[in-house]
Amino acid sequence: MNKILVYKPVPDDVLAYLREHAELVQIDAAQHDAFLAALKEVDGAIGASVKITPAMLEGASKLKALSTISVGFDNFDVDDLTRRGIVLAHTPDVLTESTADTVFALILASARRVVELADWVKAGEWQTSIGPAQFGMEVQGKTLGIVGLGRIGGAVARRAALGFNMKVLYTNRSPNPQAEQAYGARRVELAELLATSDFVCLQVPLTPETHHLIGAAELRAMKKSAILINASRGPTVDEAALIEALRAGTIHAAGLDVFETEPLPADSPLLSMPNVVALPHIGSATDQTRHAMALNAAENLVAALNGTLRRNVVNRDVLSQ
Ligand code: 8YV
Repeated sequence: MNKILVYKPVPDDVLAYLREHAELVQIDAAQHDAFLAALKEVDGAIGASVKITPAMLEGASKLKALSTISVGFDNFDVDDLTRRGIVLAHTPDVLTESTADTVFALILASARRVVELADWVKAGEWQTSIGPAQFGMEVQGKTLGIVGLGRIGGAVARRAALGFNMKVLYTNRSPNPQAEQAYGARRVELAELLATSDFVCLQVPLTPETHHLIGAAELRAMKKSAILINASRGPTVDEAALIEALRAGTIHAAGLDVFETEPLPADSPLLSMPNVVALPHIGSATDQTRHAMALNAAENLVAALNGTLRRNVVNRDVLSQ
């Protein structure tokens, strides 16, 4: 019987499902030594939010598959896994809509100053009817620039065009005819997107090419009235440059769900800026979606260990080895 390491808590019914197919070892990755030892004993592992380096896999000769409870896979050295013949599975699709909802929550909250004004009311500041000092920025009818129009970017574009009558611009390695047809999305170069968008929304995976994709120069190319939205990965934005741009009024505001360091250090300057909405990486964080992600990851792992996994595989080359 296969042996599986579970290194992040999963719902009971998902554990029960895994137990039907394998002997389980449950170790929180925070117990680093025990975690490394377990990796050497198991056929498969399932978890998330932990960087697994090639060095950590030294001696893991039984390991045939890793299953991350996330769509993002920047915690893994994919080429190294492929060289080792280890399948890496992830959980796209099941989290697309929840994450797109989070993106729109950031767009609305940052444009209409929801967090700041909710705190203002809580602080007892609402003494008379509000005035221009409490006014926010329109969302409906504005221009949304989506950097990376994949699954989540597409769901954001749908909400923007059909729900908020927004003009959608996008950058992407390849055209997205479906989004162009259904949402009137227009594919442009990054420079045009930055110069003309009211909201610049990052929806790219973290790769060496997208690391600090948005830096000081890109922030300067944006409108002073523009808002930066990031619910992809923190390091796609040069955070120090962003902090400087927000301080200097180079851009108007930011709505952020991800950061270069997570959890975001309590002394981050971002936390003392009224024009920043900062969320604790809640992109997919609903009971329903997190359960679906855990179950999807468990099914991926069992199928990978049975040699029948064909979907949700990050390193497809490994299937033909
Ligand atoms: C995960 C995410 O919950 O799926 C992703 O890539 O960022 C989130 O949905 C998070 O990665 C878990 O660490």
